[in-house]
Amino acid sequence: MSYDRSQLREIINTLRKRSDASDEQLKALIENGGCDSELFAAADETRRERYGTDVYVRGLIEFTNYCRNDCFYCGIRRSNKNVPRYRMTPDEIMSCCEKGYRLGFRTFVLQGGEDMFFTDEIMCGIISSLHGRFPDCAITLSLGERPRESYERYFRAGARRYLLRQETASDEHYSRLHPDEMSGENRKKCLFDLKETGYQVGTGIMVGSPYQTSENIVADLRFMQRLSPDMIGIGPFISHRDTPFAGFENGTLELTLRLIAILRLMFPHALIPATTALGTIDPNGREMGLKAGANVVMPNLSPADVREKYQLYDNKICLSDDAEKCKSCLEDKIKAAGYRTVVSAGDVKR
Ligand code: 5AD
Ligand code: FES
Repeated sequence: MSYDRSQLREIINTLRKRSDASDEQLKALIENGGCDSELFAAADETRRERYGTDVYVRGLIEFTNYCRNDCFYCGIRRSNKNVPRYRMTPDEIMSCCEKGYRLGFRTFVLQGGEDMFFTDEIMCGIISSLHGRFPDCAITLSLGERPRESYERYFRAGARRYLLRQETASDEHYSRLHPDEMSGENRKKCLFDLKETGYQVGTGIMVGSPYQTSENIVADLRFMQRLSPDMIGIGPFISHRDTPFAGFENGTLELTLRLIAILRLMFPHALIPATTALGTIDPNGREMGLKAGANVVMPNLSPADVREKYQLYDNKICLSDDAEKCKSCLEDKIKAAGYRTVVSAGDVKR
């Protein structure tokens, strides 16, 4: 069935009124750009009702690029021998946060490859010293799949948020993006483990990843409805030269923006970042993301000398900028887009 503009407008109104759309209607909205400006306007209204013009800033610390996994899309997969590997020490992580705190960050996101050098004991040490030193800050982890007991230990040590993208809710699609030793089933189990442990949970997908269909995206939205995440991070897939997906097309700006808007309408409470990947495929990508419903930015706090070694995809922006420059540049973008930067831990508003 083909949809004309008035039918697309009706679907947008359905979502705007917080009613559910059918799979077929969601698919139509995903596939048709004809009503994008109405869609973005509706998403922006929804965002303003819940969050006003506030944009939350999270300091991202990419503390290790070692990874035991071999995801076909990712530049720091274990088979990529062209990446010099690094690990920051707990002291380096702490001084990165000290600097971030002085710059006004009140959320620190510790992100890394799945690096088992960072045992539960080491992680808990890092988390509890950060928690003790910055009691007014939220500690967010993004360490991949770990046993439920580990998630519980980090929570007890003071971590309160965890980012783990589902990547795709379809097990069949998942197996085309990952080697056999990884499973979509375990990914989803981890997300529910995190939720049950009490974390504010973030999930997300890559837009335009190889073999992705609109049906996959509808399934992703349905999975998110079951999970009810607090954060949803999406960005375009961007091919990396040293991966099996080197020759694949990148995801598009248009579809990423459309999905940000759909997510905002379906999940009005969600914290949705305008991601670095979005800023990489278009110099104005993040501003446009904010106007389409995103309300978070995550400038890089990692020391400049490690940044070039943490490239999940080609041409990543901000590789040589320091934390201060990234933050002020993003603040300018936020202001230019008509929003305001907020200094606070910025919890979800359910
Ligand atoms: N392009 C875009 N995003 C990527 N990620 C990993 N590799 C790529 C890529 N080539 C995303 C994944 C992961 C997050 C940390 O980065 O979705 O969950
Ligand atoms: Fe890093 Fe603009 S966000 S320089």
